[in-house]
Amino acid sequence: MNRSHVLVTGGAGFIGSHLVERLLRDGKNVTVIDDCSTGSLENLAAARAHSGLRVIAAKVSECAELPDLAASAESIYHLAAAVGVELVMNSCLQTIKTNLTETQRILDAAKPGLCLARTDGPLRNSPGFRA
Ligand SMILES: NC(=O)c1ccc[n+]([C@@H]2O[C@H](COP(=O)([O-])OP(=O)(O)OC[C@H]3O[C@@H](n4cnc5c(N)ncnc54)[C@H](O)[C@@H]3O)[C@@H](O)[C@H]2O)c1
Repeated sequence: MNRSHVLVTGGAGFIGSHLVERLLRDGKNVTVIDDCSTGSLENLAAARAHSGLRVIAAKVSECAELPDLAASAESIYHLAAAVGVELVMNSCLQTIKTNLTETQRILDAAKPGLCLARTDGPLRNSPGFRA
């Protein structure tokens, strides 16, 4: 079967793992990049046996295949992030650096025509935002 290919960073996390299950159900091939720093492969237990799923255990910024994966992906969901109140409070500068670096890598690797969306309060409260 010829399936479309989707890249999900942070796919072993809370939101990412549910997204991966949904994309596989929709008939997509899914590649996950996740370093399992806060997520876990157990979150993907329901999807692990699916032939359309590939998991790369790596940091986004250290994934050698990122340029090729990003170039061939029909969509990229960038959910890899250092999150959690305790982590952010204890290592705030490191957290900011990590999130900026990983996002920069994705933006550099992505094809033109990128649509960037965010899920937190500032966007939701922006004039013109539609959920
Ligand atoms: N959970 C929520 O209620 C919520 C609400 C709004 C926005 N968000 C945003 O959605 C995104 C995902 O949140 P979540 O709740 O699923 O968090 P999560 O911690 O469960 O998932 C993040 C995943 O990213 C992975 N990761 C972290 N750094 C990485 C790196 N450098 N390279 C590769 N993988 C890395 C972690 O191992 C984890 O699996 C975050 O950007 C978060 O801010 C979450």
